[in-house]
Amino acid sequence: MYVSDCISVNEKGHLTIGGCDTASLAEQYGTPAYIFDENEIRTNLRSFKKSIDENYGGNGLVCYASKAFCCKEMHRICKQEGVGIDVVSGGELYTALSVDFPAENIVFHGNNKTYAELEAAVESGVGRIIVDNVYELETLNKIAEKHGKVAGIMFRIKPGIDAHTHEFIMTGQIDSKFGFALETGEAMEAVRLAAGMKNVKLRGLHCHIGSQIFDIDPFELAAKVMLELFKTVKDETGLELEELNLGGGFGIKYLESDCPRPYGDYMNSVAKVVKEHSAKLGLKTPFILIEPGRSIVGAAGITLYTVGAVKEIPNIRTYVSVDGGMSDNPRYALYQSDYEIVCANKANENRTEIVTVAGKCCESGDLIQENTKLQAVEAGDILAVLSTGAYNYSMASNYNRIPRLPVVMVKDGESRIVVKRETYEQVASCDV
Ligand code: LLP
Repeated sequence: MYVSDCISVNEKGHLTIGGCDTASLAEQYGTPAYIFDENEIRTNLRSFKKSIDENYGGNGLVCYASKAFCCKEMHRICKQEGVGIDVVSGGELYTALSVDFPAENIVFHGNNKTYAELEAAVESGVGRIIVDNVYELETLNKIAEKHGKVAGIMFRIKPGIDAHTHEFIMTGQIDSKFGFALETGEAMEAVRLAAGMKNVKLRGLHCHIGSQIFDIDPFELAAKVMLELFKTVKDETGLELEELNLGGGFGIKYLESDCPRPYGDYMNSVAKVVKEHSAKLGLKTPFILIEPGRSIVGAAGITLYTVGAVKEIPNIRTYVSVDGGMSDNPRYALYQSDYEIVCANKANENRTEIVTVAGKCCESGDLIQENTKLQAVEAGDILAVLSTGAYNYSMASNYNRIPRLPVVMVKDGESRIVVKRETYEQVASCDV
């Protein structure tokens, strides 16, 4: 009935998540607030893990892409579930290390890591630093030498795959700020350079072809293209690379019309391609890494808001204003992203109205959704925006000095705060 499995409706006609009444959660924790279902997150992590066990003999590692939703509790969950994580900044790395996340199972991304970030990665023993460019490779080699270490690295490659998604989040094509190009020979040049360096060890190659992808074909194609490069590397340098990192990007359900494939299907197909193609090319079957972000947390999270002003502009549209907006969810403003919205305390009523849900920021583009179906609402009603678990909390801002929202984790009818609501004092805490 709803886009997310952890959402239901109780006997009061209230929307529930993880067995908790959302109207009660709104009362207890205030709004706006993000709510996550822990069981859903764990189920998703386990299903990716299981897909590697079943289809690839467990010869791989799921690395949760923490940019989708990063906080200490999320890292604790990943640690308990025995998955790795992908971090993309010193801040994400700091958060992971602060809960004693095993550094060997961290992959560190970024197209312009700072010296301090690279040094933190080397010092803490990050297992795989995903090197993006030659400047970074040279800097990293020097840092590792200074610390008397050998840094495990992978190269980020642009495999040139068009994954048919929103242009802003398509990162595998040649005109991209990420990684080494294949066709120009840039990637091979970097491999040769690394082979001659004492303080880096090239563990393998990485690619990430985009985000919110429903098709399996582009992933299969990317795997093939990457293995061809493994082969060229072997032929030209004698180096047999051990690891293939295929990134993330698996699509989730935002609207009823979205049809993501079960995640097991993805690994089933890709594992077959990797095994067959590496055998064909005379290569060892590589250890595989995948980096799902959105698909772990996206549908596990919702945002609760309280309705304020309802403004009907005759023959134009009706604005339903809520107590949050682009400061907690910039995705409509950025990508015109679709969301399903439900009046949490009237979930049993039909969605008869077509409205625009607007935020409270001083910006006309501050909308959560335009022309969306909703129950007839009035001030004081609670709105739930579904599938906001990915790239909402992590992309939130303090625009208009609006404090960031709390994150409430629910599980089997119980709830707890995992990130506190920011205070005005905290918002101004760095001001001098
Ligand atoms: N690995 C790498 C190297 C990535 O760049 C990304 C996402 C992921 C993994 C995880 O991708 P996922 O499984 O979450 O699709 N802010 C945008 C999404 C940007 C994705 C950036 N990279 C959004 O709100 O849709």
